[in-house]
Amino acid sequence: MAIEQASAAAIEAAGQHIRGGRLVAFPTETVYGLGADATNAHAVAGIYAAKGRPSFNPLIVHVAGIAEAGRIAEMPLTARRLAERFWPGPLTLVLARRPESGIADLVTAGLDSVAVRVPDSVVAQALLRAAGRPIAAPSANLSGRLSPTLAEDVAGDLGDRVALILDGGPTRHGLESTIVAVAGEDVTLLRPGAVTAEAIEAVTGRPLTRSLDASDKPSSPGQLESHYAPHARIRLGASDVRAGEALLAFGPNVPETRGPLVNLSPSGDLVEAAANLFSGLRALDASGAATIAVMSIPAHGLGEAINDRLRRAAAPRG
Ligand code: TXA
Ligand code: MG
Repeated sequence: MAIEQASAAAIEAAGQHIRGGRLVAFPTETVYGLGADATNAHAVAGIYAAKGRPSFNPLIVHVAGIAEAGRIAEMPLTARRLAERFWPGPLTLVLARRPESGIADLVTAGLDSVAVRVPDSVVAQALLRAAGRPIAAPSANLSGRLSPTLAEDVAGDLGDRVALILDGGPTRHGLESTIVAVAGEDVTLLRPGAVTAEAIEAVTGRPLTRSLDASDKPSSPGQLESHYAPHARIRLGASDVRAGEALLAFGPNVPETRGPLVNLSPSGDLVEAAANLFSGLRALDASGAATIAVMSIPAHGLGEAINDRLRRAAAPRG
């Protein structure tokens, strides 16, 4: 079993795993996270594979401090004031992503926004320093299971899927971070959590916008309408390329085309395909093609999440 007490040596080893593109589970003050280098799309694809998530929810990027957050995301005044009051701590800010952030498109599921937080746990802070990278981390549970508050919980769900589980004992809050989206002075509550709405309102001096009423609340904020949709039409299950189409290919047998082409994985590897999905869609969309033809992608493993995302991209827009 890959559980290790979070000693200085174990944290150093964990930092090397992160830099090497491997997964590390680590304690934060809220719940245990399943971490990967947020700048490495392939490593991030490994998170989805390990969790068995049937869709690509955008992930929270963990950084050591406000300065690091400011390199990844725009920090307007309201965001800065919330960060100064609550960081390090269980508040996640959804902010505009800086173009030169270096964060993999798969982390944000192609969105132009990015969720950032500075965890308040000695082990998480030490890991961030040891890794020297921003760390993308969802809660370290299998999809559909409860968020883990003990290293043993993580081991039960993901033990054989991570390089290392850092054991820092039970997490302090046992409840996920509060997530708010900040746009100018407007702050929208996306997920209630360890920081209360009242505490946030005391800083901003104005009421929080509630994103949705309970009736049409989606299962997670990542499924909100804000999901990246390409301008181009999407034609799924393509086995040929028509005039004016770009091609999003998969595997070794690619139909002939003179148009823009991205192959998600020439060898037919679904983890590689997931790593390239959002950047590939973006690149073909930017080519100006009216339609992106997409080859069939197998439905197993990460193929389920890839196909889910492609179906959403192909759905008629209202
Ligand atoms: O306390 C926590 O936040 C824990 C620890 C590990 O930090 N992490 C956590 O991650 O709960 P996760 O993946 O289980 O939940 C993250 C939530 C998802 O519901 C996702 O949809 C939302 O954050 N999210 C991430 N980026 C977003 C974005 N750009 N816009 C809207 N929602 C976003
Ligand atoms: Mg979760």
